[in-house]
Amino acid sequence: LFSNISSDPPIEVFHLTELFNQDADPSKVNLGIGVYQDENGKTSTLPIIRSVEQQMANDLILTKNYLKATGLDIFCTAGLKLLLGEQSSAIKEKRACSIQSLSGTGALRIGLDFLYRNDYRIGYVSEPTWGNHQSILQTVGFEVRKYRYWNQEKLTLDIDGLINDLESAPEKSIIILHACSHNPTGCDPTHEQWMRISDTCKSRQLVPFFDIAYQGFSSGDLDMDAWSIRYFVHDAKHELFIAQSFAKNFSLYNERIGHLVGVFKSCDIVSKFRTQMTTIIRRNYSNPPVHGAYIVATILNNPILYEEWKTNVRAMYERIHSMRQLFYSKLKQLNISGTWEHIIQQTGMFAYTGLNSRQCQLLIQKHHVYIMSDGRINVCAITLNNVDELVEKFYDVITN
Ligand code: LMR
Repeated sequence: LFSNISSDPPIEVFHLTELFNQDADPSKVNLGIGVYQDENGKTSTLPIIRSVEQQMANDLILTKNYLKATGLDIFCTAGLKLLLGEQSSAIKEKRACSIQSLSGTGALRIGLDFLYRNDYRIGYVSEPTWGNHQSILQTVGFEVRKYRYWNQEKLTLDIDGLINDLESAPEKSIIILHACSHNPTGCDPTHEQWMRISDTCKSRQLVPFFDIAYQGFSSGDLDMDAWSIRYFVHDAKHELFIAQSFAKNFSLYNERIGHLVGVFKSCDIVSKFRTQMTTIIRRNYSNPPVHGAYIVATILNNPILYEEWKTNVRAMYERIHSMRQLFYSKLKQLNISGTWEHIIQQTGMFAYTGLNSRQCQLLIQKHHVYIMSDGRINVCAITLNNVDELVEKFYDVITN
């Protein structure tokens, strides 16, 4: 029956990790997957998470009974406030609907399922973007189109190309936007540029769908990193969707905890949306797991824990930021023609180095440095111990 099935190609980012794990070379470095690493190259569980889990283990009221399809309410309301702000008019007017999801990927998937079943058919992604955007859109059935984003010559945002492409998008196209820490380029629009993007989406009747997986990692400030979303919701009054992930900023990668938000022009739409989401979730996985939701809700709803978590996010941000600066200054000392300024202009977990795929291949094969073929690196895989050797290896592949 199945002898003729074909194989799929490996998923690059996970394949790199496998190759890295199999590599016995002591100097190996994994610059691939977007996972936070500390100064010892470890992805530890945050102490605040451990202590909440210990309390959970002793809490006899917590049960393993089903959650409803749309998730844990105390988690959803807290996640919504973190996104839209305490004073959000959309929350007060009950125009925002919050659904627990299987991390950011799950939020994208169920949100796009909803849009497709309501006759939306065209989805736009930035060129380049996180690979899964395109795959999910395609799998749901969307026609995928690209809007220009990265100017490879100037190593910066191609705002005019972006606006032109959105201007020619058909009405009701879904526009996937990275709220902050654009993956893979690390290059975000300025506030003025976001305003232009918002105006174009409004005048062309496009549907913004924000992906926010790195809140806190662009500026160190959770509110600042949600600026684009808050502007679109409160100032420009868009109807829109948001896929929020807690994988990165809570270091809860394998708990698959995230959140889909729909913001609508009136509260009547919210109740209808919720019924459709219940159907969609029921048909996909029936109801979500509680563990990660309970951890996040406990922290966000307790002022003392919340402050501690904010300090943790700030510390992760600062480490990423300082490694970015260090890497840049070391590269600059190499005296290679061209500029490395883009590395420090970018924000978030990634740097888009500008290395070509041949140079990236060479880094992997010759130097045991695992890097995505588009030249994206995870900045927090850089440490004080490996930076000098890394920079020498970059020099070798650039100059040979
Ligand atoms: C990444 O971009 O490296 C992460 O978001 C992991 C993933 O799922 O691709």
